[in-house]
Amino acid sequence: MGEELRNKNWKTIGTVLGETNINTYLFMLQSFKAKKNDMVTTQTSIPDGNGKIIKVNVWGKIASINCSNEWFPRQAAQEMAFQNINVEDTPLPTSRDELICKVNILGYTRQDNDEPKLLPLVYPVKPANAVSYPDSVDVEKLLVSDLNSKHPIHIGTLLARDNVNIKIDADSLVSRHVLVTGMSGSGKTVMVRRIISELMRLHFPMLVYDIHGDYLGFVKKQKLFSNNKIKLFYPSLSIKAEDKEIIYTLINKLGKPLTEPQNDYLNTLLNKVKFDESSIIKFLNSLISFSKGLLDSKNSKSKGSQSMPHIKPATMFVVNRSLNQVVKKLVNMENTNARHRQRMSKYYDFEKLPDASTEPEKIISKGQLSILYLRGYETLPASAIVSILSETLFKHRQEVDQTIPPFLSILEEGHTLIPSRSENKDNLPTVDTFRKFAAEGRKFSCGIMIVSQRPSRLDETIASQCNSHFSFRKKNQKDQRFVRETSEHYDSEDVNQLPSLANGQGIIGGQVVNFPLAVQVKFDDNLLNDEIGDEDFISAVENWDDKESVKLRKKFAKDFSKISKSAQKNLN
Ligand SMILES: Nc1ncnc2c1ncn2[C@@H]1O[C@H](COP(=O)(O)OP(=O)(O)OP(=O)(O)O)[C@@H](O)[C@H]1O
Ligand SMILES: [Mg+2]
Repeated sequence: MGEELRNKNWKTIGTVLGETNINTYLFMLQSFKAKKNDMVTTQTSIPDGNGKIIKVNVWGKIASINCSNEWFPRQAAQEMAFQNINVEDTPLPTSRDELICKVNILGYTRQDNDEPKLLPLVYPVKPANAVSYPDSVDVEKLLVSDLNSKHPIHIGTLLARDNVNIKIDADSLVSRHVLVTGMSGSGKTVMVRRIISELMRLHFPMLVYDIHGDYLGFVKKQKLFSNNKIKLFYPSLSIKAEDKEIIYTLINKLGKPLTEPQNDYLNTLLNKVKFDESSIIKFLNSLISFSKGLLDSKNSKSKGSQSMPHIKPATMFVVNRSLNQVVKKLVNMENTNARHRQRMSKYYDFEKLPDASTEPEKIISKGQLSILYLRGYETLPASAIVSILSETLFKHRQEVDQTIPPFLSILEEGHTLIPSRSENKDNLPTVDTFRKFAAEGRKFSCGIMIVSQRPSRLDETIASQCNSHFSFRKKNQKDQRFVRETSEHYDSEDVNQLPSLANGQGIIGGQVVNFPLAVQVKFDDNLLNDEIGDEDFISAVENWDDKESVKLRKKFAKDFSKISKSAQKNLN
């Protein structure tokens, strides 16, 4: 391989200009021989530190290209514009454009190295040297050998060269936390699905918190993953005594805001009522009936004065009403989720989420992809469910006698479930939980992958702990600034191209790659969820057929309007 890297097959495409340094150089490009983001090389000699001079290949990426033509003065353009003349009708030369490329240097490889590694350049590139266009195989070889990964996984191709495959390091991916950002429809979920299918081949356990049903396609395509188990769960709102804090938050946030005395009373209830570990709703109902009992005894004159004399009946009444409201909302959400499941029962088997404290292996086990289907739940209960489950699994990883293997948690809608403090939506239990995962997850082999449309609205602590970033198209200035500020992985040219990326084109930076790479993510159309489908609204309307109940209502409205019109006529 060392031989091949000695650039004998590489085409010369230009010449280095007169001023260079160790980070960048400019070169004059032959017409149409390279484009932005292309990898190029130039041979140069550097001192090796032992008194010898060695020949090396310096690798770089074309960051920008400028074009000018000195033979075509401004005045000529002015004349042609005013007189409406085409350039072909003039003697002016059009083939003498000067193309100047700016190259950001990535590093150098020694020519005698069989497994080329990029080393930081410590001596400038030589002016007037030839610049070459390396073969695709050699670029790919360099990317793979430089990545030095035990488990490289395939993501897509180099944006500038679609015959160069890009692999990323699975070990860093699952251990060092990943942030996937980009505006709606930019290709985040498609890429996460790509990563999931690669990690499934490595039998790595994963848990996806699926808010919209984007990952159900995996269940249907189980036959593509015959060595894996794919499980689809629906949440059960059950909690343990130690999660009382979360119930308190749920009641406080889902119900009416409580005054201080009302909160005191709620606390008393929480302390007095025996904890029912089976379901939040059951527990809330026992709080309500206990409180009702107290209220009744207070209202009946005989005992009234003994039980909780300091609490007014009005206070008890308000708390009761609020608890009732919370139960109603939770039941509603459970029902909505159940309706969605019912609608899809033809295609999918949903299982109730097992108890993570007693049977964690049913959720996390080797070769298993677990999908928790959260459709229908509002942010707060969804956050409570995710938080309780994640914390319980985390505890199992912390135990000396670990019952579950390392695993990766994938969280969509990051900005809603782990919002930044400035969003004033704190108290979502997921924020604390994921901070813990971000800070300590690596120690206990619990990696996280956060997906978000609005990175600038994410919790900063969690975002800053993500060591790898996948950035897709972003038009919002704040989000671009976020990428610029939080990611030391990209250079400014990378960030500048974010607004113009197409679907599925992204920049990968951080520990999963050796240097930032602009990629075209591979599209696995076989993993699409046919029931939810692509965003093909027009066809959906074309195939739309009103439900019987709607047809009846419309007919009734039409008949009614006829009757009322004729009644109106009769009146006149
Ligand atoms: N790598 C890709 N190659 C080709 N097309 C793609 C690719 N990635 C995304 N697309 C197209 O863009 C659509 C939207 O992609 P995706 O669902 O991944 O967006 P998203 O970033 O997850 O959006 P949202 O934030 O709304 O969930 C896909 O259905 C597909 O048509
Ligand atoms: Mg998505």
